[in-house]
Amino acid sequence: MSTGTSNDYWAKRNLPSTFKHELLRVYLPVFMARLSSVSEVAYIDGFAGAGRYEDGSPGSAEMSIKFASDLAKSRGRKFHLHYREKDADSFEKLTSVLAENTHPNLVIDARRGDISIDLGGILENHRSHPLLAFLDPCGFGVPYELLVKTMNRDAYNKPTELLLNFSHEAFRRSAGAKEGQAAAAATHKRITDAVGGDWWKSLFKEHKEGDDFGEVIAREFAKRLVSDTKASVCIIPVKRSPTTKTIYSLVHVTRSGAAAFRMYDAVSRAHEKWWMTFESMEEPEDNYALFEAPRQFDMNEHIKNTKPQLKENIIHLLHEGKPFEVSAVAPSILGSNLGSIPDKAIRQALVELEKEGIITIEYRKKKVEYWQIQQTMHS
Ligand SMILES: C[S@@+](CC[C@H](N)C(=O)[O-])C[C@H]1O[C@@H](n2cnc3c(N)ncnc32)[C@H](O)[C@@H]1O
Repeated sequence: MSTGTSNDYWAKRNLPSTFKHELLRVYLPVFMARLSSVSEVAYIDGFAGAGRYEDGSPGSAEMSIKFASDLAKSRGRKFHLHYREKDADSFEKLTSVLAENTHPNLVIDARRGDISIDLGGILENHRSHPLLAFLDPCGFGVPYELLVKTMNRDAYNKPTELLLNFSHEAFRRSAGAKEGQAAAAATHKRITDAVGGDWWKSLFKEHKEGDDFGEVIAREFAKRLVSDTKASVCIIPVKRSPTTKTIYSLVHVTRSGAAAFRMYDAVSRAHEKWWMTFESMEEPEDNYALFEAPRQFDMNEHIKNTKPQLKENIIHLLHEGKPFEVSAVAPSILGSNLGSIPDKAIRQALVELEKEGIITIEYRKKKVEYWQIQQTMHS
């Protein structure tokens, strides 16, 4: 297949896709529900694939249309859903999956084609709508300039988010193509387009033997995105197994603290699912079983062990003397546990501190990211 997926890609989910889809399962409904309460919402699945695996599990396209359709039916919400897929076979399957979910409130635009060509036009049509673009290629994604343009359409003051698959493997494989080799110039150009310049060449020359070039380039890519979009960028590494290199990072770009908070929660749930799936595999995808490392992950135990640290971090924040909203300081509360523990851990830590008389919570909304925290005044 020329579009980058291997022949058995759509047979069933592999472990990285299990992570990716759990993250979508948790995050997408929150994004869609929150923003559709005030406006029609635009969603783009730019590398949509076949929509569903051969074993019947939903792919990203089926997941998104189902979430949107549920909200359309139950709450009358309206969505504009854009799907692009380059491969003819996959596109045919995709269209039949999408056709199962029609509703008058879903405006569905599914085409066989290249998202890099269509993205600009889609943005133009949604100047007045919040928008999330999920861009999930197997190799290099859309040109960097288009990513920046997407985020910076915020001149129209509409919430915009990106969730990108940044393939470490593609960069590891391609960056070393020797100048002068037949295909090297074209490959190098693709990398340069994908990251917005040839800055990667000096990084490649300088990176030490043994360093993972995929990690090196992902970190610099994220730094540049922050600088060019003034948004916050979260890099979420995804692996085939605990001992292998990162295969890709999911990169979440947003300007909303509450959205970033929900993504941290989704990441922790995706980790849990990833571990549970890995542990249940009869033949793990590497020889991890040969190592003495623990093969068990117990989320409740993990929360119990990390809660004292969370409470300490919250108390530390209070020493700065100002009240705060949880979403604004979540990375400082979570510290090194960011992405490994769910929202309920922060909730429990805060409620315990309140019971201990250390903090006062103003519960503005049910969701913990909106809670306002201040030090309890003792007379
Ligand atoms: C990783 S798969 C997508 C998986 C899917 N997002 C999911 O999670 O279920 C990448 C897909 O992008 C398609 N593709 C590759 N280049 C493309 C392009 N420029 N525009 C649209 N689709 C493309 C491939 O044919 C392949 O089906």
